[in-house]
Amino acid sequence: MSDLQPTTRHSWPTRLIHAGLALSIITQLSTSLVMRTPHGTSPGDLLFEVHEYSGYAALGFAALFWLVLVLRSKGTSFGSLIPWFSAERRAALIADTKAHLNSARHLSFPDMDDHRPMASAIHGLGLLLMTLMAMTGTASVLLPGVREQVLGIHVLFANVVWAYLIGHAGLALLAHWTGHLDLREMWRVGN
Ligand code: HEM
Ligand code: HEM
Repeated sequence: MSDLQPTTRHSWPTRLIHAGLALSIITQLSTSLVMRTPHGTSPGDLLFEVHEYSGYAALGFAALFWLVLVLRSKGTSFGSLIPWFSAERRAALIADTKAHLNSARHLSFPDMDDHRPMASAIHGLGLLLMTLMAMTGTASVLLPGVREQVLGIHVLFANVVWAYLIGHAGLALLAHWTGHLDLREMWRVGN
């Protein structure tokens, strides 16, 4: 598929916000490996400041993503990203997961069209996860009284963020190289 003209399955606001969120999360994960966090009276270092401020940016991008999901008329529907409250969507998700497991045994992907219940449900969980990380990080600054508790949640879910980034970006690259998806649909600059 990658030698064809990219389609416009994702509108430019979605692509812009997705790129902003992805780049801020990559900054968060990289800084988290080397930053010195504040302890007692000793302040954090410059890399911690980068972690903090790009975290606020991630919070902004996540909020914008939710807004666009609710308002947009084109692209994945809100119900596909958050299918948990509809019996019909849950059934479609189970069927799609089985199709993926079957194909995985043959080291392949099932036929993919614009309706991808499993991928969309995982994308929705990813967006929820990034929202939780950005909110707990921000709350640790705004609400000193619960700093320890919210940072406990922050650190607990940090590894899941790594798993999401590696899994999501890795599968997107694999699907692109095997012709099942065109990365430019999400990463194209311009209209
Ligand atoms: C951790 C940071 C990231 C987050 C939170 C994230 C989140 C999301 C979400 C919520 C969607 C669904 C959008 C929609 O359907 O409207 C999506 C789709 C997509 N993402 Fe990411 N993403 C991240 C990083 C990346 C990276 C690094 C890549 C590139 C390798 C990537 C490639 C894609 C592609 C190609 C799609 C479209 C899939 C499709 O059309 O079915 N994402 N992402
Ligand atoms: C989506 C946004 C964010 C992501 C993905 C993220 C990710 C991470 C990761 C991976 C760690 C390392 C955890 C570990 O030690 O295992 C971390 C630690 C930390 N983050 Fe964030 N972060 C985000 C936003 C923020 C924000 C906005 C702040 C506000 C100041 C913040 C403050 C901290 C602090 C203080 C730690 C150290 C916790 C400790 O070791 O006690 N984070 N974060």
